[in-house]
Amino acid sequence: MYYPLVKKALFQLDPERAHELTFRQLSRISGSPFEFLIRQSVPAKPVSCMGLSFKNPLGLAAGLDKDGDCIDALGAMGFGFIEVGTVTPRAQPGNDKPRLFRIVEAEGLINRMGFNNHGVDNLVNNVKKSRYGGILGINIGKNKDTPVENGKDDYLICMDKVYPHAGYIAINISSPNTPGLRTLQYGDALDDLLAGIKNKQKALHELHGKYVPVAVKIAPDLSTEELIQIADSLVRHNIDGVIATNTTLDRKLIQGLNYCEQTGGLSGRPLQLRSTEVIRLLAQELQGRLPIIGVGGIDSLTAAREKMAAGASLIQIYSGFIFRGPRLIKDIVNYL
Ligand SMILES: Cc1cc2nc3c(=O)[nH]c(=O)nc-3n(C[C@H](O)[C@H](O)[C@H](O)COP(=O)(O)O)c2cc1C
Repeated sequence: MYYPLVKKALFQLDPERAHELTFRQLSRISGSPFEFLIRQSVPAKPVSCMGLSFKNPLGLAAGLDKDGDCIDALGAMGFGFIEVGTVTPRAQPGNDKPRLFRIVEAEGLINRMGFNNHGVDNLVNNVKKSRYGGILGINIGKNKDTPVENGKDDYLICMDKVYPHAGYIAINISSPNTPGLRTLQYGDALDDLLAGIKNKQKALHELHGKYVPVAVKIAPDLSTEELIQIADSLVRHNIDGVIATNTTLDRKLIQGLNYCEQTGGLSGRPLQLRSTEVIRLLAQELQGRLPIIGVGGIDSLTAAREKMAAGASLIQIYSGFIFRGPRLIKDIVNYL
């Protein structure tokens, strides 16, 4: 109800400053008598996926709440699940500012944040403090200064720490803003990483007596051949799910618009068709052997339905949430 006004004010500010201010206010409001300002009731639309029960199929994508600072406030808005992170073993500042740009005419964003986060221990503390009762995904990555050959170690360190606190764990090997990270999506590097992750999952399952599914998040900038190879590796290693997609390096659809030349990953509406195509290709290849979490440019009920028709069991939003506000959650979940 208030979002058009709030958005007008926030869009006058630098995007990252707007994000910080919003998060500060959300933290204050959450749990206070003013929580009604952000709380939304949405109908129950239960979905079972990766062995988990989701209240509804629409989640918040990774990257908005990297450190798990606002889990309760975001949970109050009606998301069926929330994915926090990407978090790395050690805190790191990310890339120099400015590193986040609005492509207003296209309802897109370009970001080169570079996994700015306060480290996995801080995230775990925040998760412990949260009262959120829904499914919480924790998205993990590697530190920038960890050589990519040793990247697996960072994922395993994070898995050890987040496992007892996660509904599922998302393995981010598709951010374009950490040099070399996307090379983990191919061939032997991928097989080696997935084997290590699966072994770690098995050990942690025994240790904690609970099975936490693992989903791998992939890029939209992969050829059909590469997608087929990834799908095959995910199946061979018994990975529990795939998240498609992260942001794109492709700028075709925003040619000539303000900030279109900025380095980083493009998200939002210009990504919508490509991510749906990736989901369709994956669904064809996977034939239901593992579920797909669809993300990329969902900005309406129609876009959400397209993702599910292409083969997604669950969906997530980020950019659409920035441009449309919390109302988008209601608009989608009500009629999905
Ligand atoms: C500012 C920003 C930061 C992001 N950070 C992360 C991240 O840390 N980890 C991750 O897996 N994805 C990250 N993403 C990607 C989103 O989770 C999502 O995959 C992508 O934006 C496509 O969805 P959308 O079009 O709904 O935004 C980020 C996206 C944006 C816009």
